[in-house]
Amino acid sequence: MNLLVLLGSPRKGGNSETLAKKVAKAVEQSGGTVEYRRLNDLSLRPCQACGGCEKTGKCVIKDDMTEIYEAVDAADRILLVSPVYFYALSAQCKICGDRFQARWSRKYLQKERFRQGEGRKGYLLSTSATKGPKIFDCSILTARYIFDAMDVQYGGEFLVKGVDNRKAVLGFPEEMAKAEQFGMDMVAGRA
Ligand SMILES: Cc1cc2nc3c(=O)[nH]c(=O)nc-3n(C[C@H](O)[C@H](O)[C@H](O)COP(=O)(O)O)c2cc1C
Repeated sequence: MNLLVLLGSPRKGGNSETLAKKVAKAVEQSGGTVEYRRLNDLSLRPCQACGGCEKTGKCVIKDDMTEIYEAVDAADRILLVSPVYFYALSAQCKICGDRFQARWSRKYLQKERFRQGEGRKGYLLSTSATKGPKIFDCSILTARYIFDAMDVQYGGEFLVKGVDNRKAVLGFPEEMAKAEQFGMDMVAGRA
């Protein structure tokens, strides 16, 4: 099983990335492979709503999204990693997600399905500073829709509230352990 981790925080080594690495460690220890893409380091133009993908299912913009499309197509599992920014995904994740409009076109306009029956899955990992009951609602909905466009089944989410400073999550060893368990569940097909 190969896992693609899309890191969506601009903060290197922050809470979401620290948890994602725990998930990934469990995958690697179970014999899987892990690839990372740090969205903030890539040159990604927002979707221009040009309609260019409507007939081909392919985006006409030539930028670093090309390597994201290829990595997503090759992955068995995809972990979208985002802090909550204003009750939503980070802009880095949203720009990347919007560019999957091309895959939405492939699936719903060209009616082309991709790697069907292989059990590919996508997950959201997110962290927030506050603890409101709806803090992850928007991000979950958006992530679900992005994975649907990728033609990947939504596998669920791993969420941690109440972590703000860069390494705050290290003060919650139980959450770190749960992240590792999440990775093991992914490999075992329980998540
Ligand atoms: C621009 C910005 C917007 C944020 N908006 C929210 C928010 O709406 N609600 C919240 O609880 N935390 C918010 N936060 C805090 C982050 O979600 C929190 O610190 C998170 O753990 C950061 O993850 P990271 O360390 O992986 O970047 C915001 C932080 C930034 C920089």
